[in-house]
Amino acid sequence: MIVAVDGPTASGKGTIAAAIARRFGLPHLDTGLLYRATGWQTSCAGGDVDAPADALAGTSFPASLLCDPRLRTEDAGALASRVSVHPAVREALFQRQRDFATQPGGAVLDGRDIGTVIAPDADVKLFVTASVQERARRRWLELSARGGEFSLAEVERDIARRDARDMSRADAPLRPAMDALILDTTAFAREQAIEAAIEAVAQAMRARG
Ligand code: DC
Repeated sequence: MIVAVDGPTASGKGTIAAAIARRFGLPHLDTGLLYRATGWQTSCAGGDVDAPADALAGTSFPASLLCDPRLRTEDAGALASRVSVHPAVREALFQRQRDFATQPGGAVLDGRDIGTVIAPDADVKLFVTASVQERARRRWLELSARGGEFSLAEVERDIARRDARDMSRADAPLRPAMDALILDTTAFAREQAIEAAIEAVAQAMRARG
């Protein structure tokens, strides 16, 4: 049972994927972290995240980096979006994600291209989205609670920039798979969105028999 959860920045896909994994007892991989670690490693090594060779070298990050809380920052997210446009980086990170997806018993993966590239054979594909304004509002509340000093307008600009880069890159752009279920959470509270996602997975499981 492979569950693919894709969607743009701050759509709530990570929370939804984690809830699905807990509910169905499946391992979960946040694939954005691999790109965040690559961007962080490239930058810390003095490399240029926009240069394919430097970014490719960044994919050899130490495993311990994946637990570094600094990967959760906006800066790391912006670096991740930049290294993720390079086909060589995507290729280098492909097998690791594919192996996770195809492990016995199944898995939940969240990202941008899980349903389209990493696991086109997934049993359930969800595309979680929400309006830019709503995603910015959620991210801004989160950042403010952590003591961040960004304005709502700045956060919205940053999200719009990240969306544009993720959707317009030539290799594996962010887009729903043809057979994905679109879950627009703009008007949903967190729990409602989780419930709708879990119901979609349960339905797919029943259909599989
Ligand atoms: O989901 P996230 O915000 O942690 O992702 C950070 C960046 O990584 C995102 O802007 C694009 C890239 N990414 C990707 O290209 N493919 C994925 N499967 C996951 C993330």
